[in-house]
Amino acid sequence: MEPEKGDPKIKVRRADVAQAARDVGIVPGDTVMFHSSLSSMGTVVGGANTVIDGFLEAVGPEGTVAVPTLWWHQTDPPLRMADWDPDTSPSYPGLITETFRRRPDSVRSNNPTHSISAIGARAVELTRDHGKAGLRVCIFGDRAFARESPWERLYRWNAAYCFIGVDFTVNTMSHYIETRIVEAALRKAPRTVRDDLIAQIQRMDKAGVWPWYDRPAMCDLLAERGLVRFGKIGSATLRCIRARDMVDKTRAILRARPEQWFRPDMLAWLAVAQGKEAGE
Ligand SMILES: CC(C)(COP(=O)(O)OP(=O)(O)OC[C@H]1O[C@@H](n2cnc3c(N)ncnc32)[C@H](O)[C@@H]1OP(=O)(O)O)[C@@H](O)C(=O)NCCC(=O)NCCS
Repeated sequence: MEPEKGDPKIKVRRADVAQAARDVGIVPGDTVMFHSSLSSMGTVVGGANTVIDGFLEAVGPEGTVAVPTLWWHQTDPPLRMADWDPDTSPSYPGLITETFRRRPDSVRSNNPTHSISAIGARAVELTRDHGKAGLRVCIFGDRAFARESPWERLYRWNAAYCFIGVDFTVNTMSHYIETRIVEAALRKAPRTVRDDLIAQIQRMDKAGVWPWYDRPAMCDLLAERGLVRFGKIGSATLRCIRARDMVDKTRAILRARPEQWFRPDMLAWLAVAQGKEAGE
């Protein structure tokens, strides 16, 4: 997405980043995940590392900071999954994430589409065994948002989930939410239709059904309920929501009014999963 336009006259230093993080509720010992645009903040003195160090300062020595270091995305010519190497494959979601992954104190999870990198006290625990167990049916492969994955841990640990100069359009956690929705529906689905429902799911190489929803609209709704805290880093808007609020409340909102959020094919899929005739 297009980031917010930064004001180059505004200077941002490490202490500003740390203070902004505290202002949206981040405390020592926290786990933080952030999506970012470096240019949106103004002039960041010291560049990408200043932002990383600011968050590390806010969480202190007992805390952990993470960023998405996704590699595979649509390119021309396409990237080949076989070329994925967690030690060398570059991160595409912004300069801060690539700088983060290259730091010697950073550890990266092993997943070609939805890897994260982390620094801090629980970095190894957060990133290890990505997709080793608890696989979940998912458009991006069944390991990406597995029960054994950093995304599940961000949820369980109730991480502070942040956005700097970008909105929920880039919210990778939304795929975790979508994957949980599919998992829950399949768990309850009559056994006779389960395989067919799985076969209908969208995959990276195949069109199909997936519970896409409007992420900025969901952000507005969560904000209306007071669950998103807003701040500033330089000229950029900082948004922060706790991972459990984001996941649990979003799921509840989607469950309450699926027809408002999901495409007709997804609604029909859900109806079959609930043992109803489509359109019933
Ligand atoms: C795409 C995206 C990263 C673009 O944001 P951006 O600010 O233009 O780009 P980056 O964060 O990579 O920062 C690089 C830019 O910062 C600027 N920059 C460099 N040093 C800087 C500094 N010290 N201070 C401020 N800006 C600086 C440069 O203009 C550079 O742009 P350039 O490559 O044109 O020279 C952003 O819009 C976005 O979507 N971020 C979230 C991505 C994400 O998490 N996706 C998840 C999966 S969907």
